[in-house]
Amino acid sequence: MNRADKMMVNGKHYRTVWAEGSVVKMINQPKLPHKFEIISLNTHKETADAISTMKVRGAGAIGATAGYAIAQAAIEAQTDNKESFLQYVQDAAETVRATRPTAQNLFYAVEKVLAAVQNASSPQEAKNAAVKTAQEIADEDAESCQKIGEHGEKLIKDNSKISTHCNAGWLAFVDWGSALSPIYAAKRAGKNVFVFVDETRPRCQGARLTAWELMQEKIPHAVIADNATGHYMKNREIDLVIVGADRIAANGDIANKIGTYSSAVVAKENGIPFYVASPLTTFDLKCESGEGIPLEERSEDEVKYMFGLDEKTGESGRVLITPKDSDAKNPSFDVTPAKYITGIITPKGIVKPSAEEIKKLFS
Ligand code: MRU
Repeated sequence: MNRADKMMVNGKHYRTVWAEGSVVKMINQPKLPHKFEIISLNTHKETADAISTMKVRGAGAIGATAGYAIAQAAIEAQTDNKESFLQYVQDAAETVRATRPTAQNLFYAVEKVLAAVQNASSPQEAKNAAVKTAQEIADEDAESCQKIGEHGEKLIKDNSKISTHCNAGWLAFVDWGSALSPIYAAKRAGKNVFVFVDETRPRCQGARLTAWELMQEKIPHAVIADNATGHYMKNREIDLVIVGADRIAANGDIANKIGTYSSAVVAKENGIPFYVASPLTTFDLKCESGEGIPLEERSEDEVKYMFGLDEKTGESGRVLITPKDSDAKNPSFDVTPAKYITGIITPKGIVKPSAEEIKKLFS
């Protein structure tokens, strides 16, 4: 893979999140699409806060960031007493676990870096092991996503019209993305594709982030209101749906951004293949079915207010769109049962969403 094959912003390669010594750097996602900004997080607490405030979001990117945060904690901790060193890192793990509940990648990364720390023979060795393991998690994420692209590309015929929900592209991972990776691979293979981008209320990850990524990649697309997707499916204007996942249960049920369930049901009703793209780090085999997946509920303000750019002043700001005193509800994720899913595109190939096939993936 050469540099031009990776995530490029204005001709320069970026990862969504990376570490430079004890500093974590990331693309500040709430500023997109109107401003491209890199921020630096100097402590594990700042990095954890960046996860909960969604400066970084998306399963793989959250996972890599969580790993880096635990490595930061190991770097910060005093080394003179092994017990208090371990206690500091365990407390940091608790802080990071509490940031967002649904994305399995976060828990995968926290446990993996914590284990590296606990298995080391001295605090100094633990610091080195934490930094190394966090970096491996980020690299593994980028490699897995590239492989998802290679497998998923085979599903995309020339001139396909593809629907996607939320943002499961570069910005949701370290590089490449999950749902968008096959689309990027298809484009690089010379195929023409058109993407229907669900706006994805309330935080508009589709309108803000997926549309921005597709602009960077020069892929033709249209942002549509979430409630327009069914209309385009019924009118046979969508050939294929590819979405990401935040957690996949052992039976193939998936949790993904709120609205995924509706898209899957309407796709099935209209005979449109519905694929989920995901690295193995998103599977939670301890979770038997979707019913066991913890679903995050976020602030009602995300529904009541919208952010945007005032083109006259060039300033970004938020506006109230509901009566001030209306109550709002804001479930961040929903569960799509396996019966609506045609297949799961993984780094090891495309599998059926069944307990047997998923078990084989990990054997
Ligand atoms: O709340 P977010 O933006 O962190 O939600 C996660 C997502 O981006 C989506 O659910 C996505 O489709 C799966 S994560 C690759």
